Amino acid sequence: MNNNSILVIGACGQIGSELVLKLRSIYGNEKVIASDIKNGSDELMQNGVFEILDATYKGAILQVIKKHNVSEVYLMAAMVSVTAEKYPHRAWDLNINSLLYVLELAQEGYLKKVFWPSSIAVFGKTTPNIDTPQVTVTEPSTVYGISKLAGERWCAYYKAKYGIDVRSVRYPGIISWKTPPGGGTTDYAVEIYHKALSDGSYECFLSEDTRLPMMYMDDAIDATISLMDADLPNGFASYNISATDFTPKEIAESIKKQIPDFSINYSPDFRQQIADSWPQNMDDSQAQKDWNWKPNFDLEKMTKAMLENLKLIKEVN
Ligand code: SER
Repeated sequence: MNNNSILVIGACGQIGSELVLKLRSIYGNEKVIASDIKNGSDELMQNGVFEILDATYKGAILQVIKKHNVSEVYLMAAMVSVTAEKYPHRAWDLNINSLLYVLELAQEGYLKKVFWPSSIAVFGKTTPNIDTPQVTVTEPSTVYGISKLAGERWCAYYKAKYGIDVRSVRYPGIISWKTPPGGGTTDYAVEIYHKALSDGSYECFLSEDTRLPMMYMDDAIDATISLMDADLPNGFASYNISATDFTPKEIAESIKKQIPDFSINYSPDFRQQIADSWPQNMDDSQAQKDWNWKPNFDLEKMTKAMLENLKLIKEVN
């Protein structure tokens, strides 16, 4: 990609941290600028350029874009469902203003391409929650969902009005072992693996039959980068993407196959209501058709990968 570089905003978060490493392995360490409001892991900060950046300041984003000749931005900074309920204004400010600034910078000619993640949270109680279609009712009941829905509309607006090449997927719950998630309703499906190894048991904050769409990190990174690489100037504002879906009871069963003594109990709290407003699974046939999206990890493969990798980290520490 000639002299230009890629900027990842929110590079120290759960998805951002793995996205940076993958992009660097594809395009070269010097081509991928990592940025966040706080420092990240040594691996992230030492193998390429890192900038401290507050994404709620347009001038600060522009400065980094100019300094490093950036032409593509992955805007991963966001406050997700549980934290956004606590801090609605701050969540709106971060989730929406950062997007508007990046879209404006694209309109002003500084950027050629933008990636911005949306979420299953755009859907609500009135949405058909099994095989949720690409285009359907979107009446989110959470602050996070409201911001993601507004963001999708802003992306569609800038695309239609100014021809901005902005691409997006609706991530399901993302499961990973490298960087912990923070403040999400789907985070139970990460915690459960940590607790299975450390305590042999887990107290789940969702009920045993709460089915949600989920995806292993490798698939999420693959979806993100392959969407950005696809020849797709006129795609949807944001694509449904699916990999697997399961309930707390089913993930516990899959852990028991590896750790037979593992036990789980259930104490649903306020997060149950958030989960109940989201789809159980999504129809992603549009993504399959438009850019050949295809996941690699089902629940069993994911459980194996999670437990193997978390055991390795434990041994090293
Ligand atoms: N993982 C997010 C959350 O739980 C959903 O996209 O908030």
